[in-house]
Amino acid sequence: MESVNPETSGAVTPNQEAATSSGGLIRLEGVTKVFYTDEVETHALSGIHLDIKSGEFVSIAGPSGCGKSTLLSLLGLLDSPTDGKYWLNGKEVEDLDMGQRARIRNREVGFVFQSFNLIGDLNVYENVELPLTYRGMPGSERKARVTEALEKVGMAHRMKHYPSQLSGGQQQRVAVARALCGKPSILLADEPTGNLDSKNGEAVMELLHQLHREGATICMVTHDPRYARLADRSIHLFDGRIVDETTSKAEEII
Ligand SMILES: Nc1ncnc2c1ncn2[C@@H]1O[C@H](COP(=O)(O)OP(=O)(O)OP(=O)(O)O)[C@@H](O)[C@H]1O
Ligand SMILES: [Mg+2]
Repeated sequence: MESVNPETSGAVTPNQEAATSSGGLIRLEGVTKVFYTDEVETHALSGIHLDIKSGEFVSIAGPSGCGKSTLLSLLGLLDSPTDGKYWLNGKEVEDLDMGQRARIRNREVGFVFQSFNLIGDLNVYENVELPLTYRGMPGSERKARVTEALEKVGMAHRMKHYPSQLSGGQQQRVAVARALCGKPSILLADEPTGNLDSKNGEAVMELLHQLHREGATICMVTHDPRYARLADRSIHLFDGRIVDETTSKAEEII
């Protein structure tokens, strides 16, 4: 377990060099997130220190409202910390302008949400292709990537189907293909099995586990301890703080 808490370890302040030389993909240092609404302050995250290495599978658990989705939003550059520092791939995120953030989000981060978030007017192929189109990738390369990703999740035979014509489990497999086809540095999954029955949930988890064995870095929110055990490391959040962290053996599967 490589997590470094500068408060307790006495580590020097990490910099870009340290983050990359340790194989670190993600480093959060003293990250807080406060939401301000109608004179109410919500402290969603407080003093988060977190390191994720390339190739790691990390799960995040904790009660509703403890900050899990907020943490994934920050990791995926959908939102910014109120305070603290975030290095992604050795780059300090705060220094990036809007264009750079959007570019990194498109290229380095793959998202999978509980509610699949596929576009209803686009078929399976087009849904998976969309992030690559935004990237300006040539058509022939897009086709190869989309086909490869759909084959990987076992959905190549449903390319022309629309999301409404698929089961929940199939939709989530397409969402995983969409997240994968850009070959991101990290896959962020927020309760990816939350809307699925146990059979489909297990299939999607087996898929994520397979991707991890092939080298993908994954950070996943899950309430299910069976799925959390698939991860190399499980982080427990409570009231916006990391209160527990355990490493687990990948052999004890499902
Ligand atoms: N955009 C926002 N504006 C104001 N408060 C917010 C916003 N987003 C989240 N919060 C608050 O921040 C806290 C953490 O929310 P978050 O969505 O991260 O919880 P969670 O752990 O993902 O919960 P759940 O398990 O229910 O999905 C909550 O108290 C929530 O009300
Ligand atoms: Mg949530």
